[in-house]
Amino acid sequence: MFKSSLACLALLATGALTTSPGYSFNITPTVTNSSFSFGQHYAVLNLDLVNDLVATVNTTKVGEVWINNVATWINTVHKQDPPPLSIFSRIYYSNVQRPEIGASPFGAAVAALGNLTASSPGTQLYPAFKPLDNWDVVVQKARYYAGAGNPLEEILSSQRIDTVILSGIRTSGVVLSTAMRLLDLNYNVYVIANNTIESPSTYAPSNQKIILEGILPNLPVNIITIEQAIGALNRSGPAVY
Ligand SMILES: *[C@@H]1O[C@H](CO)[C@@H](O)[C@H](O)[C@H]1NC(C)=O
Ligand SMILES: *[C@@H]1O[C@H](CO)[C@@H](O)[C@H](O)[C@H]1NC(C)=O
Ligand SMILES: *[C@@H]1O[C@H](CO)[C@@H](O)[C@H](O)[C@H]1NC(C)=O
Ligand SMILES: *[C@@H]1O[C@H](CO)[C@@H](O)[C@H](O)[C@H]1NC(C)=O
Ligand SMILES: *[C@@H]1O[C@H](CO)[C@@H](O)[C@H](O)[C@H]1NC(C)=O
Repeated sequence: MFKSSLACLALLATGALTTSPGYSFNITPTVTNSSFSFGQHYAVLNLDLVNDLVATVNTTKVGEVWINNVATWINTVHKQDPPPLSIFSRIYYSNVQRPEIGASPFGAAVAALGNLTASSPGTQLYPAFKPLDNWDVVVQKARYYAGAGNPLEEILSSQRIDTVILSGIRTSGVVLSTAMRLLDLNYNVYVIANNTIESPSTYAPSNQKIILEGILPNLPVNIITIEQAIGALNRSGPAVY
């Protein structure tokens, strides 16, 4: 108790975590069919689960819940036989000059992350989230959309994927942007509500709620719980990849 109060004071002193992450404990899913499945041509997208971004939430209770849910999902997906295609995205640049962003608006959005290159510790996948060697795909990105400037769309179309299931950080960034873009490209999009989180900001809790309960359902993107996702996984496949 004493120790954690000290840690709390230290965080407040540095200005960190004076606002809360946005996370959902009570979302109404949009899918009501208890026997729905993802079919055989589905891919699992695990977006921006990197150290620097996870570090904005992992000292909070809701951050821990989110991490546990995402790890459970990734590990359950890996236990399918055969495992479906899983794609992880990471933010980083070709070199420290950050040629991908220059003076772009997105560059301003990620300025605090610094000059991330492929080997920077901040852009490695958070240790709780492990891709399957020689099976899962990890793509580089330098925009909100997970398919910007990388082979994501080429991989999805070459593998004849028709359905994608999204988890990631943050809900109003990569998750929202990727859900909208892939919907426009004719994919059936599912977002696992328990597996998305909004980094701390003044509006984080309301952003999380309005995106998952208002904006995405209206597109329409399917909002499901992790319990529904694991159930559907069991009724899906064998995955074609
Ligand atoms: C997932 O989210 C649903 C709806 O918000 C909630 O009822 C359920 O308890 C959550 N599950 C876990 C494991 O956090
Ligand atoms: C529910 O999903 C199953 C499996 O995809 C499908 O066969 C069935 O027609 C669906 N039921 C309704 C009422 O849409
Ligand atoms: C949070 O994540 C960062 C980056 O991985 C790590 O250095 C730090 O130890 C983590 N903190 C906790 C409480 O897990
Ligand atoms: C990133 O690299 C640019 C160009 O070399 C340099 O001006 C800038 O100070 C660097 N920023 C950080 C955070 O390292
Ligand atoms: C998956 O389906 C099998 C057979 O229908 C069932 O025995 C098992 O409990 C299910 N597992 C989950 C996690 O739903």
